[in-house]
Order: sequence, then structure tokens, then C-alpha cells
Amino acid sequence: MSGAIEFDEKEAAETERSYLTADIVATRAGVMELLAPGPGKRVLDVGSGPGLLLRDIAGAVGRRGLAAGIDISESMVAIARHRCRDLTNVEIATGDATALPWPDAHFDRAVSTQVYEYVPDLAAALAELDRVLKPGGRAVIMATDADTILFNSRDNETAARIREAWPRHCARPFLPRELPQLLGEAGFSVIDHRVHVILNREFTPDNFGYHMARSMSVYAAKQGRISKDEGKAWVASLDRMSRDGGFFFSMNRYLFVATKRPPTA
Ligand SMILES: C[S@@+](CC[C@H](N)C(=O)[O-])C[C@H]1O[C@@H](n2cnc3c(N)ncnc32)[C@H](O)[C@@H]1O
Repeated sequence: MSGAIEFDEKEAAETERSYLTADIVATRAGVMELLAPGPGKRVLDVGSGPGLLLRDIAGAVGRRGLAAGIDISESMVAIARHRCRDLTNVEIATGDATALPWPDAHFDRAVSTQVYEYVPDLAAALAELDRVLKPGGRAVIMATDADTILFNSRDNETAARIREAWPRHCARPFLPRELPQLLGEAGFSVIDHRVHVILNREFTPDNFGYHMARSMSVYAAKQGRISKDEGKAWVASLDRMSRDGGFFFSMNRYLFVATKRPPTA
């Protein structure tokens, strides 16, 4: 059984819901600060998903700039096109991060958040990112390390099985720890790094931890690591913990700022 999550219509809609939480709104603000897409700039979002960041970028670059997105999932592209339908400075392509449909040195800036974890041929994707950026152009890349996802739990056996299953949902669940070196090998200089910590003490749909718990338990059940009922019981136990003050969820999202090195003479 393949372990990789596919962003079909249902998964795309759930991702969109979870990315509208205050936690991810704050993460996006942090990404925008590092990306600093000024007026008139051409900016690429690789794996643009539901288009939330694209909208922010389009606002920042203005009518003379360009916010371009690409995503492998047609469902995600449909959501993003709908979200950006009133904007004339947005273009969104369906395609793979390893084959970007733009010419060399087309973009001033590029961003990719929570995407390269899903790309098996990461060297090819980073080579493409390097190709479409102007020399000196900036890239901001964000990824989560699966080992940083923490839940307080009173059903430790189910929690352990869910935790063990989750890294299989993508090709590179521990990408942040190797990303700076991979960026260096792909022709970038890593000039800055940050970590964005999400910490929730309440189990509510307004918090990202709520969506992660549901996604992780559904995934573990699909992988046959727990039964559906065990997953539901674990989620219900988190809800009870929220009411008695015991709920705790935390995860780290790592951000790297890199610039494309100029060609050597
Ligand atoms: C977790 S979502 C993140 C979406 C968006 N970057 C954000 O942060 O709002 C991961 C996205 O990566 C896309 N994706 C996965 N593999 C891809 C690939 N090889 N090329 C382009 N997009 C890809 C998925 O379709 C999905 O939209």
C-alpha cells in the first residue's frame, strides 16, 4: 500500500480548512516577512495549494508584479483559482515541482511551504527552483519535521501507533534537518533560518492541532495501524482533555531563507 497522501478533492478541502486557522495565518505572516515581495516583483509559489499565500503575495507585488503558483493537484489548483479569481496579477499552473513551466531566471523571489516533503526527487525540484530564479534571487522554504509533532495523550498505545504511521504520509518527513545542506548542494546560499512553533492548549476547530489530530488518526487507520474506532476514541479523548485542561499539541515548522548563487566565472 502506498503511504503518500494524495491531495484529492476531500484532502484539498480539509487542508484548506486547517490552513485558515489562526496558527497558519500567523505562519503565513512569518513567511511573508521573510519573502518580502515588494511592488513589481515576480514571485513563484511552488506547491501553491489552496492559494492563500498567493493572494497575500499578489497584494504585495501589486498590478505590475506577478504571483505565480504551481501545484500537482487539480483539486488544489481549482480552489486556488477560485480564491484568486478577482486578481489580474495571478497565474496558476497544474504541474510538478520537478518541471516548472517558466523560463530561466524568470522570478525575483520564490517560496515553497510544506511541499518539498512530498517530492521524491527533491534534487530535481531544487534544480528547477534554482533555474527559474534570477541570480541573487531569494527563496523561502518551510517544512515540518515529523519528530516535532507532540500530543499529550492518555491512550499512549494508540498515540504511539498514530505517531509511528504519520512519517509515511510523505516522502521526506524529516526534511528540515537535511534541507540546508541540500540547498547548498543545489546552488543556494542559506542566509537565514527560523522556527515557527505552533502550540495549542485547546482542542477546537480554530486550532491547527485539532486538524492534525484528525488527519493523523484517519491516516493511521487507512494504513491499518489502528482501527477507525480506535482513531475516533483517541480524538474524543483529546476533546475530553481539552475540557479538563490536559490538552497539549505542539509542532515546529522550520523556515530557511536562501539566495541563488551567481554563476562562477
Ligand atoms: C500541505 S500542502 C501545502 C500547500 C501550500 N504550500 C500552503 O502552505 O498553503 C502540500 C501541497 O503540495 C502539493 N504538491 C505535492 N507534491 C507536489 C509536486 N511534486 N509538485 C507540485 N506540488 C506538489 C500538494 O498538491 C499540496 O497542494
